[in-house]
Amino acid sequence: TAATTIATAPDTAVNVAHRGASARAPENTIPALELAASHGADVVEFDVQETRDHKLVLMHDTTLARTTNAESVLPGLSPWRVGDLTLAQIRKLDAGSWFSDEYARTRVPTLDEALRAADDSGVGVLLEVKAPELYPGIEQRIVTELRRHPEWVSPQRLVVQSFDWDSMRTFHRLLPSVPIALLGRPSTGQLPEVAKFADQVNPHYTDLSTSYVRRAHDLGLRVLTYTVDSASAMRRLIDYGVDGIVTNRPDVLRSLIDG
Ligand code: G3P
Ligand code: CA
Repeated sequence: TAATTIATAPDTAVNVAHRGASARAPENTIPALELAASHGADVVEFDVQETRDHKLVLMHDTTLARTTNAESVLPGLSPWRVGDLTLAQIRKLDAGSWFSDEYARTRVPTLDEALRAADDSGVGVLLEVKAPELYPGIEQRIVTELRRHPEWVSPQRLVVQSFDWDSMRTFHRLLPSVPIALLGRPSTGQLPEVAKFADQVNPHYTDLSTSYVRRAHDLGLRVLTYTVDSASAMRRLIDYGVDGIVTNRPDVLRSLIDG
């Protein structure tokens, strides 16, 4: 598989589909991942959390209410926290109908399924460890899962990120061969310390400037930014020198890059 997580030219950027092609398909599902690949994404970003029985699943919110039909299938289990329900309970849910009827009966995927689908689709993965403070030990569980998929333990294909920087220090200690990204914007004063264990910083796009990107690059850090859906903002960020852009609309970024 080609290197998918590293930009190859100065006037381009890695095209990262946010939760899959989530403007057109239900976020954090296999159809969204596959659509992202067909819309020209290089990499698919998704959010990983843990069920009550310690299985790893894709879900952004810490509850299932917004993006599944948990409320009607499991009445009485409000607020439908991911960590309160078993994988068997979660697998009964429909994670597509809330988005459109076309995606009815789409299931919440496991990390295992998502890695297989990404492999089949030829895209890289930006794996976000979401709310790790709710799931003590999730870093080790993700490492164990990745070791079952040795093809993914490669800096060319996978980056692991979190807003929780302590979690990323833990992850790096457990599996140093997989690159780490810190979500958010470390101060320029913090960047040298960050560069000791992280490979990337991923700030919000309104928090960036050319000088910040240059400072990170001088320290050997790559810079990705999220979540950018307008072509004009994408153009501006490429001009800042970012290495990658996380977007709900990978087709828009693909057209921009390909001219
Ligand atoms: O990859 C960046 C982005 O996914 C972080 O924010 O809330 O969409 O997980 P969020
Ligand atoms: Ca995310």
